[in-house]
Amino acid sequence: MSIVEVRELTKIYGTGETAVTALDHVSLSVEAGEFVAVMGPSGCGKSTLLNLIGGLDTPTSGAVLIDGTDISGMKDDDLTMLRRRRIGFVFQFFNLIPVLDATENAALPLTLDGKGGEASARALDWLGKVGLADRARNRPDQLSGGQQQRVAMARALVTDPALVLADEPTGNLDSHSAEEISQLLRQASDEWGRAIVMVTHDPKVAMHAQRIVLMRDGAIVDDVKVGGKGGQTAIRAAMEKAGLL
Ligand SMILES: Nc1ncnc2c1ncn2[C@@H]1O[C@H](COP(=O)(O)OP(=O)(O)O)[C@@H](O)[C@H]1O
Ligand SMILES: [Mg+2]
Repeated sequence: MSIVEVRELTKIYGTGETAVTALDHVSLSVEAGEFVAVMGPSGCGKSTLLNLIGGLDTPTSGAVLIDGTDISGMKDDDLTMLRRRRIGFVFQFFNLIPVLDATENAALPLTLDGKGGEASARALDWLGKVGLADRARNRPDQLSGGQQQRVAMARALVTDPALVLADEPTGNLDSHSAEEISQLLRQASDEWGRAIVMVTHDPKVAMHAQRIVLMRDGAIVDDVKVGGKGGQTAIRAAMEKAGLL
């Protein structure tokens, strides 16, 4: 069974003359452990797609299934629970809580879920896995951008989610930190078995994924597997076609 199944998803913002069709009958499946990069010009609907998959926004029509469950039919409380337990989120600007240290930030999804007892130990474990064991007591303002994003990765992974959604996770990082975060995302897929859906505009970051989905004007225009013979050429051709190179 697919972790994510998106069926004929449409999102229209506003009504009448000012209506904007952000997504136009998009369909997509993501399997367990698969690492997918979503690329496309600014405004083509990438964030809208990610927000709908994550249950952060509701579609105009169409369906999103997570682990086979249609989330549009879920009650708010159940959706909140599913988001907290099955999905990890990583954002461009980290979204850490300034007054909490790295451990408390990484532990947050567990603390909010009433699992305070095991939260610290599990957060520390994940901070170790992302290479930040020595920063456990630092607050965000005492960490570099790359380190803050690694705390956000630990927070996204601490619940052992099936799916990690990352919207331009390297968009605010220097190239060295961007490479580190890309490798961690790849590890989350390869080693820890998480499905990853990542939006990026950086081809170097996208090359860490196993599959690249290209969007334009609210639609998927191409879907290419990375790796294997001719993979790089196929990606370049697809990116050129989508107006990304
Ligand atoms: N809350 C909103 N209200 C109105 N229009 C929106 C809203 N969010 C996004 N849009 C519009 O929907 C389209 C897709 O936006 P978005 O998904 O953010 O694109 P991307 O992430 O690819 O840059 C754009 O035309 C954008 O202006
Ligand atoms: Mg966006």
